[in-house]
Amino acid sequence: MAGPTLAVVGATGAVGTVMCELLSSRRNVWGEIRMVASARSAGKKIMCRGEELTVQALAPEVFDGVDVAMFDVPDEVSAEWAPVATARGAVVVDNSGAFRMDRDVPLVVPEINPEQVRNRPKGIIANANCTTLAMIVAVAPLHREYGLRELVLASYQAVSGAGQVGVDTLHDQLAKIAGDRVLGSRPGNVRQAVGDDLGPFPAPLALNVVPWAGSLKDAGWSSEELKLRNESRKILGLPDLKVSATCVRVPVVTGHSVAVHAVFGTEVDAEGAREAVRNAPGVILVDDPAAGEFPMPIDAVGTDPSWVGRLRRSMDDPRALDLFVTGDNLRKGAALNTAQIAELLAVELAR
Ligand SMILES: NC(=O)c1ccc[n+]([C@@H]2O[C@H](COP(=O)([O-])OP(=O)(O)OC[C@H]3O[C@@H](n4cnc5c(N)ncnc54)[C@H](OP(=O)(O)O)[C@@H]3O)[C@@H](O)[C@H]2O)c1
Repeated sequence: MAGPTLAVVGATGAVGTVMCELLSSRRNVWGEIRMVASARSAGKKIMCRGEELTVQALAPEVFDGVDVAMFDVPDEVSAEWAPVATARGAVVVDNSGAFRMDRDVPLVVPEINPEQVRNRPKGIIANANCTTLAMIVAVAPLHREYGLRELVLASYQAVSGAGQVGVDTLHDQLAKIAGDRVLGSRPGNVRQAVGDDLGPFPAPLALNVVPWAGSLKDAGWSSEELKLRNESRKILGLPDLKVSATCVRVPVVTGHSVAVHAVFGTEVDAEGAREAVRNAPGVILVDDPAAGEFPMPIDAVGTDPSWVGRLRRSMDDPRALDLFVTGDNLRKGAALNTAQIAELLAVELAR
């Protein structure tokens, strides 16, 4: 029997491109796969599972006969088109922020709450934000061990988190400044060299860090900081969890990192915490500072797990741990988590 039919909406974007790679390399559970994007991309060819597939423009008919539709498109496109897909019988797995906090839409991380896949009154399942995903798979086993009370987070987010245009912007800026060894030594000279085209960022990324990601929300918080708070609470089922986050964009192409200060209900010990991380699915412990081994984007990019290291007990609070986590924002942070959810659905559909 042929497997279920899958649509990949947003197949030409940063997340969609990684999705096509994953569909080619993971266990093949799908029958027909349809590639969908905007009308601008209609007719383009995409390689997937060794086949050349033609991109179709998003339209209601592309969902006819589709069992599962992955949405890797901007929020407003998902908000409009996910209900169209479900009305035509597809279950939607949405990567955007459009439905994550909807009470009738589960926010699923297969390593943490896979049972929520079956609880989908709207026929939509949401994928968490990329920074939350990198961090939460590392924090969940520690929560199971010690009972989480509070998270204080600082993110170091890669430019691909802002889509393909973010990657192009950083590379263009790096090309403009290459070889100029004076840059960065005086105020304004990096801005001048980079010019006015900042892409999706509020300031130059080359030779810089920018303490801002997302849009401005109440009381000076950014939308990315609120996502970390709200999505962590929903995924862990801890509505009162205290979360304070500062989100920072750094000149890294792919791989979001998070410095985590986690406070628990009971005393912790670093070796027990390392053991919990070692035994957890979806994470890899890389924690040997004496040997120069730390979790870093240049190593984590292109890999599936969240890399965890610098794990130590707080010097001032015996109930607190500090750690550093890095994960590929386009894989576990987006396409991989979606693929894992869709595979759970494929198993359900095959029953
Ligand atoms: N990048 C990350 O790390 C990350 C992580 C987690 C979640 N997400 C979320 O995943 C989604 C996709 O992000 P991305 O980074 O892949 O963005 P991207 O590189 O800008 O790609 C956007 C995709 O959406 C398609 N699209 C845009 N407008 C459309 C329309 N009106 N109709 C049909 N298709 C349309 C584009 O098609 P064309 O090529 O034809 O324009 C492209 O395939 C976003 O909601 C983002 O917030 C991203």
